[in-house]
Amino acid sequence: MLDYESVMKLALERGFYFPSCEVYADAQAGFWEYGPSGVSLKNKFLELWRRELIRRDGMLEIDGSQIMSKSVFEASGHLGNFADPIIKCMKCNATFRADRTIAELTQIEIPESADLEEFDNAISENNIKCPKCKGDFEKTKNFNMMFKVGIGPEDEEAYLRPETCQSIFVDFPRLYKTMRGKLPLGIAQVGKSFRNEIAPRQSLLRLREFYQAEIEVFCNPSKLSEMEKFSEIQDVTIRIQTDADPVSMTCKEAVETGIVPNKFVAYYLGILTEFYEKTGIDISKSRFRKLGDKEKAFYAEVAFDFEVETTIGWLELVACNYRSDYDLSNHEKKSKQKFEIMDGDDKVLPHVFEISMGIDRSLYTILEHSLEDDKEHERLVLGLKPYLAPMHIGILSLVKKDGLKEKADEIYVEIKRKCDAFLDHSGAIGRRYRRLDEIGAPFAVTVDHQTLEDETVTIRNRDSMEQNRIKISELDSIVISSIAYP
Ligand code: GLY
Repeated sequence: MLDYESVMKLALERGFYFPSCEVYADAQAGFWEYGPSGVSLKNKFLELWRRELIRRDGMLEIDGSQIMSKSVFEASGHLGNFADPIIKCMKCNATFRADRTIAELTQIEIPESADLEEFDNAISENNIKCPKCKGDFEKTKNFNMMFKVGIGPEDEEAYLRPETCQSIFVDFPRLYKTMRGKLPLGIAQVGKSFRNEIAPRQSLLRLREFYQAEIEVFCNPSKLSEMEKFSEIQDVTIRIQTDADPVSMTCKEAVETGIVPNKFVAYYLGILTEFYEKTGIDISKSRFRKLGDKEKAFYAEVAFDFEVETTIGWLELVACNYRSDYDLSNHEKKSKQKFEIMDGDDKVLPHVFEISMGIDRSLYTILEHSLEDDKEHERLVLGLKPYLAPMHIGILSLVKKDGLKEKADEIYVEIKRKCDAFLDHSGAIGRRYRRLDEIGAPFAVTVDHQTLEDETVTIRNRDSMEQNRIKISELDSIVISSIAYP
C-alpha cells in the first residue's frame, strides 16, 4: 500500500483522474475529470455495486434530474439546514471552515453541526488567528452549500441537487404504484451531486461536483425485525465502533447486543461489507462508526458511517442513515400529494434506510489499497481485482517486423470485443509490461517469432510475473474466466 502522493502521481500519469479545466488559470478547485482508466474502473465498480446490492436485493434503479425545483429543497430541509460553519478573517477576508481550521491548529474536534458558539469559544479560548495573516476572525456563520441556478429568461430559482436521493423520495409514489412495489423496497440511483464546499481538497476526496451511488430502502417501521433475508448475512463479520476501538462481530451478534438496532439495518450493513470486500479494499481496515447526535445529518435518526483507513486517515465512504419518514412526510406536506401506501392491510408512510456511497472516495481507496511498490522487480503494481481492472489484457508484439505486428493486430481484433484489451507495439517490452502493471492489467500477451510457427503466445501474469506458453485458441477461456465477476 502506497501513500496519497503515489496514488496522485499514478492518477495523473496513467489516465485515472486529473484537474478540470487545467489549462486555464481561473479553473476552480474541487472539480476533477476521470480519464479513460478512471472511467473504466468506475464503470466496473458500479457494475459490481449493481450485482452485489441492486440485483441481489431486487432493487429498482432510476436516473433523475440533477437540477430540481426550489420546493424540493424547501421540503427536504436543505435550503434551511445544509450549511457548513465558516469563519472570515477581519484583516485579509480569507474564509475557512471553522471545524477544520480549529482541528488543524489545535487538534480539538468539534462536529460540523455543533452550535456556532462552540466554534467561537474554541477560537477565543485557544487564541486562534487567521492562518494566512494572523488576523482576528469574525463570529462563526453558517454558509449554505447549495448551488443555485436560474432557469429560462425569467431566471426561475432552482438548485443543483446536493444528494441524488431527493428524486427517489419525490418519485416514490409513482414508482411504488407503477412498478408494483412491495415493502421493503430499495430504490437506487447513481449520478452527480453538487456542493459548494468552502475548502475542496485532496483531489477526489472533497469535491464540489461528485458521484454518489445512493440506495433508499423503504420499509414498514413496525416490521424492522421481520427480515427473512437476514439469515443470508447473519454470520458475516462486520466491524463496529461505538465509543472505543472498532470491534469485529457477526451481524447476528450486532443485533443481539443491540449495537445495531434491528435485523433490517444489520442486513444492509452485512451486504455492504460483502460488497466492499469484493472491491479489494482491506476490510480489516474498515469500521461502521456510529455517529453521535451532533455528528448526524439533520435528517438522520440513527447513522453509521462506513469508514476505511488510508494513509491520510479514516475516510468516510458510505453514510448509512436511518431517515425515518423525515423525507416522505415533508414532501407530502409541501406537495399536498399522497405518499402513504398499502403494505398488506396496513396503510403506512414508509420509513427509509439509506446507503449513500461516495463513488470518488471509494475509487481513491481502492487505488490506494491496491497500489504496491514491488521493489524487488523495480515496478509499481496496481493489484486490482481482475474484474475491476481498467484494461484486462495487453497484446504486445515483441518486435514490429517479420509479420509480428500483423499477428498481434489479428489477436487484438479477435479479443477486443470480449474484454478490455490494449494493443501496444512500441518501446522496450519490459517498459510495456510495467505500464500494464501500473494500470492493473492482469494479463499481457506477447507475440513472438514462435507464434508464427505454432500459433502460441506467451501470457504473463501481473502478480506472479510468470510467463506461460499457451495456444492462441486457449486465450479466450483463460482470460474471460479470470475476469468474471465473483
Ligand atoms: N444522501 C446522503 C448524503 O448525501 O449525504
